[in-house]
Amino acid sequence: MNGKKILVTGGTGYIGSHTVVELQQAGYEVVIVDNLSNSEADVVDRITEITGNSPKFYKIDLTDSDALREVFVKEKDIFSAIHFAAFKAVGESVEKPLMYYRNNLNSLINLLDLSGEFKVKNVVFSSSCTVYGQPEKLPVTEQTPVIRPESPYGNTKRISEEVIQEFTIAHSGFNGIALRYFNPIGAHPSALIGELPRGVPNNLVPFVTQTAAGLRDQLKIFGDDYNTPDGTCIRDYINVVDLAKAHVAAISRQVNGKMRNSFEVFNLGTGQGASVLDIVKGFEKATGKKLNYTMAERRLGDVEQIYANASYAEKELNWKAEKTLEETLKSAWEWEKKLRNIE
Ligand code: UFG
Repeated sequence: MNGKKILVTGGTGYIGSHTVVELQQAGYEVVIVDNLSNSEADVVDRITEITGNSPKFYKIDLTDSDALREVFVKEKDIFSAIHFAAFKAVGESVEKPLMYYRNNLNSLINLLDLSGEFKVKNVVFSSSCTVYGQPEKLPVTEQTPVIRPESPYGNTKRISEEVIQEFTIAHSGFNGIALRYFNPIGAHPSALIGELPRGVPNNLVPFVTQTAAGLRDQLKIFGDDYNTPDGTCIRDYINVVDLAKAHVAAISRQVNGKMRNSFEVFNLGTGQGASVLDIVKGFEKATGKKLNYTMAERRLGDVEQIYANASYAEKELNWKAEKTLEETLKSAWEWEKKLRNIE
C-alpha cells in the first residue's frame, strides 16, 4: 500500500469508475467528487463490491467552488487530482456551446485554483484525440499538430490542456499530464461497472450492444463511401480497463518524479485502427449475436480515420493496451446483458 490520496473528479462516470477501481487495487486512497449529472450513485457501491474498499464520495458540482473548497479543507494531503468531470456529448455541445465552455472550463479553473491554494501539486487531465482533427499523417503521435477541434466539446479539451500547461508554467513545482484518449469501449470484467449512456447512445459500441439487446431496432453505419478499405470510418478502440491502468501509470510517474517536463501529453490507444464494420463483425464473432444493421448517410463532423501511435506511452509510462478487440467487445456485451437482465 502506498497510501497516497488521489482526488478523482467524475469518479462515478464511465472512465472515472474504472480508474477508481484500478487506483484502489494499486493501493491508492481515492476521494471521488461527482455531481451525478451523468452517472448513478450506486456506482460507488459497485466499486466497493469489486475492490472490497469503499472510496470516499462527495456529491459536488465542480463549478461550485465553495463546495469544492470544503472537500479540499476536509481531505488533507491530496497528492494528485485526476480530472474526468466534464460534459462530453459532441452534438449537444454544438447546440449549447456556452453550457460546455462554462461547465468544462469553470470546473477546471476551480480545481486548479484550489490545487494551488491547498498545495496539491499534480493533475492528470482527461483529454481526447479530437484535438488532432483529421490528421494528414497516420498514426498520430504526440507531435501531430493540434488543431481547433470541430465541436465546442473538443475545443474545451484543447483549451483545458493549454490552461493546465500555462498553470504549470506559472506555478513552479506543479505537474500536469494530459492523456489523449482514442475511443474507449468495453466494461469491467465483473460486469458491475460499464458505460451507462442516458437516452439514445451517440457512440458506436453502446448502440451496438443496445441493438443486440433489442432496445434499438437497427444500427445505422454512418457512411460506407469513405476512403478506407471497407468504406467505413476507422478509429482506435481502446479497452476501458486498459485505459484506466494508464491513469495509474501516470500517477506513478508523478509519485516517482519521473516527469520530463512540467506539462506532458500522452496518446492512449492500441495503435490499431478498426473500421465500423470491423466492430460489427468483431461483435458478432465475440458474442455469437447477429446484429441488424444498415448503411446510412455520413454523420456530420466525423473524421475519416484516426488511430494512435502508442509507443511514447509505452516507453515513458511503461503502459500498453493489452486486451484484444474481441474480448473488449465481449465485455461490453456482458455488461449490457447484466444491465438488462438478459440470460
Ligand atoms: N457510428 C456509426 N453508427 C452509430 C454511432 C457511431 O456508424 O450509431 C460510427 C461513427 O460514424 C464513427 C464511429 O462509429 O465512425 C465511432 O463513433 P463514436 O461516436 O463511437 O466515436 P467518435 O470517434 O465519433 O467520438 C469519439 C468520442 C468523442 C471524441 C471523438 C473525437 O466519443 O468524445 O471521438 O474524435 F470527441
